[in-house]
Amino acid sequence: MAESWVNLAERIGSDLHLELPGTGGRRAALIRALRDAVRGGRLAPGTLLPPYRSLAADLGVARNTVADAYAELVAEGWLTARQGSGTRVATGLRTEGAGTEAGRAAPAATPGAAARPVHDLRQGQPDAASFPRTAWLASARRAVNAAPHDAFGPGDPRGRPELRRALAAYLARVRGVRTDPDRVVVCSGFAHALRLLFGGGVLGGPLAVESYGLPFHRSLLAAASVRTVPLALDDDGARVEELAAHDAVRAVLLTPAHQFPTGGPLRPERRAAVVEWARERGALVLEDDYDGEFRYDRRPVGAVQGLDPEHVLYLGSVSKSLSPAVRLGWMVLPERLVDAVLAAKGDREAWTGVTDQLTLADLIESGAYDRHVRRMRQRYRRRRDALVTALAERAPHIRPTGVAAGLHAVLRLPPGTERSVVRAAARRGLAVEALADYRHPGAAMPPRDGLVVGYATPPEHAYAAALRALCEVLPPASL
Ligand SMILES: Cc1ncc(COP(=O)(O)O)c(C=O)c1O
Repeated sequence: MAESWVNLAERIGSDLHLELPGTGGRRAALIRALRDAVRGGRLAPGTLLPPYRSLAADLGVARNTVADAYAELVAEGWLTARQGSGTRVATGLRTEGAGTEAGRAAPAATPGAAARPVHDLRQGQPDAASFPRTAWLASARRAVNAAPHDAFGPGDPRGRPELRRALAAYLARVRGVRTDPDRVVVCSGFAHALRLLFGGGVLGGPLAVESYGLPFHRSLLAAASVRTVPLALDDDGARVEELAAHDAVRAVLLTPAHQFPTGGPLRPERRAAVVEWARERGALVLEDDYDGEFRYDRRPVGAVQGLDPEHVLYLGSVSKSLSPAVRLGWMVLPERLVDAVLAAKGDREAWTGVTDQLTLADLIESGAYDRHVRRMRQRYRRRRDALVTALAERAPHIRPTGVAAGLHAVLRLPPGTERSVVRAAARRGLAVEALADYRHPGAAMPPRDGLVVGYATPPEHAYAAALRALCEVLPPASL
């Protein structure tokens, strides 16, 4: 057995003895050695590890071997990595040095982090590590410096004019939305918009919805006593012709660019048909454009709102493009609804801070928002491609759907396997969701078995390990 003494004196204040066997996989051996050093307490929580290059040189292994080993241990929760501050031993680990048993599997974490999976492929958030901190700070500095004094007064319930102007121009250019700034009302996101519209008495039920959708939005509507009527879905999106059978329905909520979560766009004939239905009935289409900027293979599907701004209410937010924690969104309203929405909002803008609004306006107008979205689109496309390739190589019998756009895909599973796959994933430390969890309880269409895989969620370095874990828990072809 070859031994390597690695002098980490400047980094960790002591020498570290790592034993790598003379033969066999260097990456796996290094992972084992580092894991043992952490578990045994020789590398204390919070310890800064040496850069790839110096550890690689000390051990006589390739730089990528060290990078891969660190990434794997980050994904397993033993190490943490932050851009600019290096890789450290995770804090809150129970080590043998601390007198507690620690197993070979994922480390036991601090109470706050106890529920965190080793690999996270749940949909619902963009890569949090990619938030454009520098651009955001630059915009905040510029915007706050340039803002007039009255920006820091009580404000306009529509939102800051700078942001409404920037959004009206941006949405017209990028999504084909037709509006002027006066019909844009800023809110804290799609969920807030639903609360204002239905909880604030602007609109009432029954509301037609898609048979698969976000359960959180269904509960918001239920809390506002809105009955929802599920429309069936097929490969062309929601079957909007079913609206004709529901006389009392005066509004329909759709995700036309990328059905959530099953994935396809609403086919052009159906887009036209649902607008026609709204015109004839004096009804309204609510367009949830939650990830419209992220389309990979074909030309972007423009907003339905562009077909008829008086019968389509367009809703969007920065939750997929920047972060769901920023809480900034917008409604583009038909003229006749503006006053009612403002009344529901109240005189004081209690939901979205003025500095964030000004910052987003600057981010858009300076072009930094476009640049960020373009960069993320490339990154997510690469991740989407890696998912498709991994499945083609390791589970060719599993069909990914909805991969032309967005930050998630649905993997169709053999009937009856969905729950057992999610359980097997949980045992493997992989968090991933069952398609059944998104199904409307009143849906009449046949259920589909599937996994909803959010490929934007893990940080870049942890994605490959998450994909490996996913492929390991998929059912075999014989099922
Ligand atoms: C279907 C759907 N609509 C809208 C949103 C955005 O919600 P919000 O703006 O409230 O964060 C999400 C989540 O990001 C979503 O999954």
